[in-house]
Amino acid sequence: MSIKFPPISGKLPVFMHGADYNPDQWQHRPDVLEEDIRLMKLANCNVMAVGIFAWAALEPEEGRFEFGWLDDVLDRFADNGIYAWLATPTGARPTWMSEKYPEVLRVSANRVRNLHGMRHNHCYTSPVYREKTTIMNAKLAERYANHPAVVGWHISNEYGGECHCGYCQDAFREWLRLKYGTLEALNHAWWTSFWAHTYTSWSQVESPSPHGENMVHGQNLDWRRFVSDQTIDFLRHEIMPLRAFNLELPTTANLMDLFDGIDYRKLADAIDVISWDAYPTWHNESDDSKTAAWFSFNHDLFRSLKRKPFMLMESTPSLTNWQPVSKLKRPGMHRLSSLQAVAHGSDTVQYFQWRKSRGSSEKFHGAVVDHVGHEHTRVFRDVAELGETLAGLTEVLGTPANARVGIVFDWDNRWAVRDAQGPRNMGIGYENTVVQHYRAFWSLGISCDIIGSEDDFGQYDLIVAPMLYLLREETGQRLERWVEAGGTLVSTYWSGIVDENDLCHLGGFPGPLRKTLGIWAEEIEGLPAHDRNGLVYEAGNTLGFSGTHEVHEICELIHSEGAEVLAVYADDFYAGRPALTVNELGAGRAFYLAARVMDDAFYQEMYEGITALAGVSPSIDTVLPHGVTLQTRTDGEFDYVFVLNFSGSPQQVRLDGAGYTDMEDGAIVAEPAIELPLHGVRILKRTARGVKK
Ligand code: GAL
Ligand code: ZN
Repeated sequence: MSIKFPPISGKLPVFMHGADYNPDQWQHRPDVLEEDIRLMKLANCNVMAVGIFAWAALEPEEGRFEFGWLDDVLDRFADNGIYAWLATPTGARPTWMSEKYPEVLRVSANRVRNLHGMRHNHCYTSPVYREKTTIMNAKLAERYANHPAVVGWHISNEYGGECHCGYCQDAFREWLRLKYGTLEALNHAWWTSFWAHTYTSWSQVESPSPHGENMVHGQNLDWRRFVSDQTIDFLRHEIMPLRAFNLELPTTANLMDLFDGIDYRKLADAIDVISWDAYPTWHNESDDSKTAAWFSFNHDLFRSLKRKPFMLMESTPSLTNWQPVSKLKRPGMHRLSSLQAVAHGSDTVQYFQWRKSRGSSEKFHGAVVDHVGHEHTRVFRDVAELGETLAGLTEVLGTPANARVGIVFDWDNRWAVRDAQGPRNMGIGYENTVVQHYRAFWSLGISCDIIGSEDDFGQYDLIVAPMLYLLREETGQRLERWVEAGGTLVSTYWSGIVDENDLCHLGGFPGPLRKTLGIWAEEIEGLPAHDRNGLVYEAGNTLGFSGTHEVHEICELIHSEGAEVLAVYADDFYAGRPALTVNELGAGRAFYLAARVMDDAFYQEMYEGITALAGVSPSIDTVLPHGVTLQTRTDGEFDYVFVLNFSGSPQQVRLDGAGYTDMEDGAIVAEPAIELPLHGVRILKRTARGVKK
């Protein structure tokens, strides 16, 4: 039985390959627009994201609309087998609008209104901005929702930021009123009795400000949630008029790596397909594996938001122009990093941008077509070759991943843990910690989903939830039941500390997980940069490991309440006290790591042991060289195993038997090993090894 998802668009049931396209910048050069079509075909591109910042071209003055140029572009596309993600242009507003309606401009936390300029500089609450958006989007939809070239809606661009204007303050208060009902409930949840911050009327409540209130943790957290909800509300507001003319056309919004400002898990419900913009800085370190793992984590996160294939909406064909230093992709890297996205579940490879703009702030940003204007460039050839490769992978399209490990990564938790004012305010390192745990799986070649603590745990054998500082009572109970039923949980220091209102759990940390983990966390300390402790494995421990690992930044002092002590601290007054434990509960077990261990090798070894206990294995039963990883997509009948080499040198990977075919040349792979060139990637096909329901 096939478990494939349908293609993102039935009009284009192959891998989409293309770029952001800005014909609005070249209206005075019809020859350039004509030439673009020829070049797009040569580059094996079949899709363009059009009109992302084209509001001024579409509505040059209030109420006067110009669609002729866009008609031409889309008609030419349709005639030439090129498709379009048509954008709503709300990522930047025209100057006349800011001039006539200053309320559309954002107000900063210091309560000063911005001037016109930049992009993404508008208030998501402003009634005028919302009205103008509705008018524009309705016109676009009326005209193009059924155009043969249009495959979907690209809604705005990289939503983000916040506004503190009067409209937003009112909307925040309304949001709070809906959430809490009474001021009494709000005062309790925010613990406002502290420092006499009790609110006695709704009108006193404001957004946090550097020169006002910023110490009430519950208030800060609710503001973050409100900003996120309000942005998503604006997104829904944008989509409404689009739906009126064609219900089938999919919507997407391009997201950003580990973006902090919006709870993407909530945003995911508002759109049909997830897309995101990936800009790795390759070749900055001696090998690329850390960079690659960071981007793999993000690909997994974006796939997991809907647990289905996603889109790589933007990536650069060569370099960016906004990073501190911009290195060119070495030969092979374009193919490797593009196929990395595909390996993790992307059904598209798209770029920013098709053609370099001639002026302004992105004129040196990489593009498929350079200022020289022809196809005889290294970058163009790389792009065209990738297009050919993608065309040969159509059977992979729509196939899901098959992860049995879930790594918990929560926005609520990010916001709360960073605001905690606890043992380490010079960087609590939540994101880096989660990714450090993830890197172990990346190195072992074990696929992971990146999930939220409110998601269903049922399909996983192993759940890793580092630093789950904000832990709802209900999540604790679900995890307990899931472990009892046979799950393996890994938790760490600084977990189960506060509830959803940022109020500390009373009665001993880690709060709702105390019984599951079989420990009590009594104290925690932050270590200054130079301080170290050690984690020493106990003789005869269940994992069978020995040796000492360096510990830094955070040490928690815990007591076992029934858990086996696997390792202890090496130094200081708490030497000999537990640093790593495991608790058996029902048919499952729960590990607790009390300190932040420095080296990746520790995590890799620990997870090798834990995955073996949990019955989770890598896609190919082999030992991978450092910097090489595996990612697998499967349709239930065949597995497609991507072997990706980020090590910075050629490698060999031993296979676990016969039965592999190379997807690109169709040849049966000769055992016992495959060769991977520098920045190489091989895609192997085999009979599926079983999908867990
Ligand atoms: C993205 C943005 C694009 C372009 C690109 C440059 O964040 O969506 O419009 O600016 O960066 O790398
Ligand atoms: Zn506002």
